[in-house]
Amino acid sequence: MLNLKEFQQRRGQLLQKMSAGIAIIPTAPEVIRNRDSHYPYRFDSSFYYLTGFKEPESVLVLVAGSEPKSILFCRDKDIEREIWDGFRYGAEAAKEQFGFDEAHSINALDEVALKLLANQPKLHFSLGESASWDTRVTGWLNTLRTQARSGVSVPDDICDIRKLVDEMRLYKSPFEQEIMRSSANIAAAAHNRAMQFTKPHMMEYEVEAEFLHEFYRKGAQAPAYTSIVAGGANACTLHYNANNAKLNDGDLLLIDAGCELDGYASDITRTFPTNGKFSAAQKDVYKLVLAAQMAAIEKVNTNNHWNAPHDAALEVLIQGFIDLKLCKGGKDAVLESGAYRQFYMHRTGHWLGLDVHDVGEYKNKSGEWRMLEPNMTLTVEPGCYIRPADNVPKAFWNIGIRIEDDVLVTQNGCEVLTKNAVKTVADIEAQMKR
Ligand code: GLY
Ligand code: MN
Ligand code: MN
Repeated sequence: MLNLKEFQQRRGQLLQKMSAGIAIIPTAPEVIRNRDSHYPYRFDSSFYYLTGFKEPESVLVLVAGSEPKSILFCRDKDIEREIWDGFRYGAEAAKEQFGFDEAHSINALDEVALKLLANQPKLHFSLGESASWDTRVTGWLNTLRTQARSGVSVPDDICDIRKLVDEMRLYKSPFEQEIMRSSANIAAAAHNRAMQFTKPHMMEYEVEAEFLHEFYRKGAQAPAYTSIVAGGANACTLHYNANNAKLNDGDLLLIDAGCELDGYASDITRTFPTNGKFSAAQKDVYKLVLAAQMAAIEKVNTNNHWNAPHDAALEVLIQGFIDLKLCKGGKDAVLESGAYRQFYMHRTGHWLGLDVHDVGEYKNKSGEWRMLEPNMTLTVEPGCYIRPADNVPKAFWNIGIRIEDDVLVTQNGCEVLTKNAVKTVADIEAQMKR
């Protein structure tokens, strides 16, 4: 159900932050796949965050100042189109149900926007995000410039609205946290289901079908990103997504998959043996990555900055690489030289929310890592990817492991939202026993 008050509060908060001027926030365009077939429609995350409105061809305009106003432009009711494509609110119903001060037909945008933009001191807009919106908005400004002799002034200050909205989106409200918990629970159940289902000699896409089934049957609207189902050596390709290879007996399977529920992403990676039993070498590396992940999660609290979990994971991984004879020399030397990057070449997480790689700065204005604060949500996802190489013992060749959970920063530490996805060696082997 739409939490109307919360969406209104967000608009109110943004209007206050703007203090003056006008904001123009379009939603995402529909994208044609070929001829008259479209990709599944996905609204723009910031537009949705401020409106709760999911229809394409919509624009939010906020007018700040002594009489702040939020105005929606949306598609007209159109019985003919609704027979083909489904329900549309139309301006009148959208205004009532989504709590705007005004709503207009999207067809009136050019005309009304000119009036709203005239004599405003500032324009808040995400310049550079969309070439067609840049052209359209610049066109409005140029039209207003031609009216200068009639006394019309043009905003002389264009600010990036993303600076304000991204910072708001970084802190999740209890309402958002609840959706993210549900999204995480669905994805966790999907990973557990995939794990139970997997057997040697299946195809990667058969396993993919299992977790997609769980996403949809639990009410998620879509995968939150392109799923990775990578058996054996494929796991050492970080963005592998062909998902069409056979699973060999004795190989590991890495699955990086999350769902989108009411706009919010979950993002889980689990790695497990296709035959249900880790080999000695697989177990050594798996336990190392798990220890790194646990050390990183331990650092997710308000006493630490953004990078502390990455530093903690790296420290554990580097010691492990030395112990397993993957890297030579002392810890400091391996860190300094970057030799560990042969096996761990990505960072340990990212903000998570309406976007899987969610918005929000990672450093503060002085260029330091920002502190973790309550209600931020992030992933913790160390890994180890061992491609065949002369300096690597053969037993480790083609082992690719990542373990990824979604974590909410709380007052006293953190909550692992994806804790229901089976993770320890013992639990994975038990889950796959048959
Ligand atoms: N699935 C995307 C990521 O883990 O960052
Ligand atoms: Mn991730
Ligand atoms: Mn992921």
